[in-house]
Amino acid sequence: MKKMLALALAVLMAVCVFAGCAQEAENVLTMGTNAAFPPYEMVDENNKIIGIDAEIAEAVAAKLGMKLEIKDMAFDSLITAVSSGAIDVALAGMTVTEERKESVNFSDTYATGIQVVIVKEDSEIKTIDDLEGKKIGVQSGTTGDIYCSDSPENGGYGEDAVARYDNGALAVQALANGQVDCVVIDNEPAKAFVAANEGLKILETEFAIEDYAAAIAKENTELLESFNKALSELKAEGKLDEIIGKYIKAE
Ligand code: ARG
Repeated sequence: MKKMLALALAVLMAVCVFAGCAQEAENVLTMGTNAAFPPYEMVDENNKIIGIDAEIAEAVAAKLGMKLEIKDMAFDSLITAVSSGAIDVALAGMTVTEERKESVNFSDTYATGIQVVIVKEDSEIKTIDDLEGKKIGVQSGTTGDIYCSDSPENGGYGEDAVARYDNGALAVQALANGQVDCVVIDNEPAKAFVAANEGLKILETEFAIEDYAAAIAKENTELLESFNKALSELKAEGKLDEIIGKYIKAE
């Protein structure tokens, strides 16, 4: 009898340990991003993805008792990756737009982005009114791309005006090489790229002001709710400001 009890206990313990493992394996939050967008996401010297979005996601995951895993991918494949369930969430300095909202849900917003124009220091482009007839470099699929490639009736410059690159750094390189006349991109990466390249500047006139949020699959309302709850706690605790302040120094 005693032996049987011991055996039953051993089996029970084994099952618990096993279930514990399975439980843990499930508790992974997979985040997709495009890690060439400093200071929101970039790769450090150890090939680790760091930045504001990575740290926010890390803090949210910790609150949800989950382990964060980050996948680096093309920016213009993030929405599909979210809606198909290939990733749980996209944090990529992603702007909330009506069109994207047709495919995914957005969390509450956690930052503001401004589309700006980078030009060469001696450029004849002085304001955004001078963009007409110019070659504009953009990162493929970003709001900068969407605005600029739109038809002139809609305030854009048309498909032919735009040269698309896989990431912002490549667009800026094309500007430095004289292949495009300007680059339209979000202000914080713009500052980082201008600081890293000589002879470039950011125009003072702003192109558009936008909200950044995390994208989550429409079906996954549970994650949307828990993500927003964690995010609002991080805001209340001052943790969000702390993360942003670590990467963006007040001027
Ligand atoms: N805010 C812009 C957008 O949503 C650009 C974001 C690019 N992000 C990135 N990680 N490369 O379209």
